[in-house]
Amino acid sequence: MEKRRIVVTSALPYANGDIHIGHLVEYLQTDFWVRFQRMRGNDVCYVCADDTHGTPIMIRARKEGRTPEELVAEMRGRHVRDFADFQMSFDNYYTTNSPENKAFCEDIYAKLEAGGALLHEKVAQLWCPSCGMFLPDRFVKGTCPNCGAPEQYGDSCERCGVTYSPSDLKDAHCATCGSRDLETRETEHILFDLAKFKDYLREWLPEHTQADVANKLREWFGEDQKLLPWDVSRDAPYFGFEIPGHPGKYFYVWLDAPVGYLASLKNWCGKNGHEFDAWWGDPATERYHFIGKDIVRFHCLFWPAMLHAAGYQGPTKVFVHGFLTVNGEKMSKSRGTFVSARTYLDHLDPAFLRYYYACKINNTTDDIDLNLDDFAQRVNSDLVGKITNLASRGAQMLGKRLDGRLGRLDAEGRALVDAARSRAGAVAALYEARKFSQVPIEVCKIADSANEYFDRHAPWKTIKTDPEATRPVLTAVLNLFRVLAIYLSPILPAYAGKAAKLFGESAWSWDSLGETLEDRPIGAYEYLAQRVEADAIAAMVEASKPAETAPAPAPAPAPAPVPAAPAAAVPLKAGIAFAAFDACDLRVGKVESCTAVPKSKKLVRFELDCGPLGHRTVFSGIRSAYPDPSVLDGKQVVFVANLAPREMKGVGVSEGMVLTAGDPATGLAVLTTLAPVNPGDPAC
Ligand code: MSP
Ligand code: ZN
Repeated sequence: MEKRRIVVTSALPYANGDIHIGHLVEYLQTDFWVRFQRMRGNDVCYVCADDTHGTPIMIRARKEGRTPEELVAEMRGRHVRDFADFQMSFDNYYTTNSPENKAFCEDIYAKLEAGGALLHEKVAQLWCPSCGMFLPDRFVKGTCPNCGAPEQYGDSCERCGVTYSPSDLKDAHCATCGSRDLETRETEHILFDLAKFKDYLREWLPEHTQADVANKLREWFGEDQKLLPWDVSRDAPYFGFEIPGHPGKYFYVWLDAPVGYLASLKNWCGKNGHEFDAWWGDPATERYHFIGKDIVRFHCLFWPAMLHAAGYQGPTKVFVHGFLTVNGEKMSKSRGTFVSARTYLDHLDPAFLRYYYACKINNTTDDIDLNLDDFAQRVNSDLVGKITNLASRGAQMLGKRLDGRLGRLDAEGRALVDAARSRAGAVAALYEARKFSQVPIEVCKIADSANEYFDRHAPWKTIKTDPEATRPVLTAVLNLFRVLAIYLSPILPAYAGKAAKLFGESAWSWDSLGETLEDRPIGAYEYLAQRVEADAIAAMVEASKPAETAPAPAPAPAPAPVPAAPAAAVPLKAGIAFAAFDACDLRVGKVESCTAVPKSKKLVRFELDCGPLGHRTVFSGIRSAYPDPSVLDGKQVVFVANLAPREMKGVGVSEGMVLTAGDPATGLAVLTTLAPVNPGDPAC
């Protein structure tokens, strides 16, 4: 068969947050497909990168008192570690904040401009004088002009669903600083004239993505429907690339993000002695994007139109998948089902999620449900009970009683192994078509026949009465297991690696299926997979719940009466009576150090210099808002000083509560004082 040359991408995760199990629906399925293509001997380059630009990153970096570059470097490190631990096999994992990306953006921009694909228009936008910036829609909040719901974003109301522009909001204010003195200022924006590419896209869509996606998008192409121009510029301050010839204007993050695919590929080419044009530019190369259904517009309208307009090859296909639900519902922080990749890894084997997702994912845009009971059940009964057991029983018995040497297959064993192998074409076709969910079904069918054969021959009995007669049976069972493990290799690479080692083989290719192993030694059996314990799942869910609320203050030996205190690390709730608030002795402490508490996802430890009050250690459940708590070093924080010391399970005694403000769902910030004060002096 002719070797194919294939570029594959997964969507670039935002540098703004950690990888979670929803993201992994995408990254793992791409990895299954890519590993399968490599096993087939195709030339594959799988690239990805962090999506680093935009307003949220800039604001967060500001809030944390560091540069956006520092923030995105830290986040990229976290992403890379999470992906590595989930056995992802990117050929290159880059960043959109790269010289290659800048160069591609500028080149594409120049070609769009020259080709008349851009519009320059004056637009009116809200401006926050205290932040010194134009406010994107999501950075304005106010009261919905339609239903009166308070605190709605500038683009649409979450209560009544109506859409509007930010200036329609009543009581509009800056979501970052709260200022109500917003001005409307005029500014020039650059827009991509999408309507020009209506005919091109109408033709392009059905051939380049799934039918339901194409149909949905084509609804926008009716006679009376317009493809509105797409605003691709943003005003300073912005973390991104400045637009050449337009000082103070930046490329909107959604322009430079997909260009980041090209940049990551180019960077890989540079490091590996390849020509970019032989990969992206060659019409014979296949180029595939894996994306979620929320970002179809960007990948199936703007991106192909932009590439076409700039004279670049477009994608061969965009593969769109659905969203993850957990136990039938949207991932939820309060239910503990918004599980980060790291929290999962702290409790469970990554192979299990890879296996379970493979059982659920196919080539449609349907949502994928992770039912936690079903997860344990499938892993335990199929992966461990049916599949892995073949290897552990077969190899251990052969090792202990028969010198670890495979013999020859008898007729029955050979027929079974041949039958298992005969599914190779069918299994390959399933992978190729991304019908991953049917692969474990095929594999389990074969495993069932292997287990039936094993049980019928009862080797645990014959090994005592006639060991030599047992050898062909174990040889058949182990050869059957080997076929299954090869079929599962793209899904379970680490598992397959260990299995190959058991047979004294290096990495398997699809052609390895053609071999039969006879008359040769096998290695010692190494653990492949252990059962999932319900406890581990429960602990993972528990660890994913939001930071625990206030350690309820113990009856106070302190002189001041201790009220029901505001929760540490929880915003002061509007419902707290002023008297309770008033009874809190609020002091300022200088942070000598703020560090993550080992093994805790939520807690950080403050060492505070409290002046006349001396030194205090305070724990606070704000880790999610401060992935790197050391940014608080040297800051002056406000804390409640008259609470009874409280023992924090296993970590130490907390001698106060540090105050925070904000919404736990969108981000908390520790209250810090600007002016120097003497630590410990009553500040309020
Ligand atoms: N940064 C953009 C993509 C730019 S691509 C040029 C983005 N990032 S993301 O981090 O929000 O999402 C990355 C990918 O993960 C997207 O394809 C998205 O659809 C997918 N998923 C994010 N959450 C998901 C679920 N809960 N379920 C399934 N896929 C999900 O979008
Ligand atoms: Zn502001």
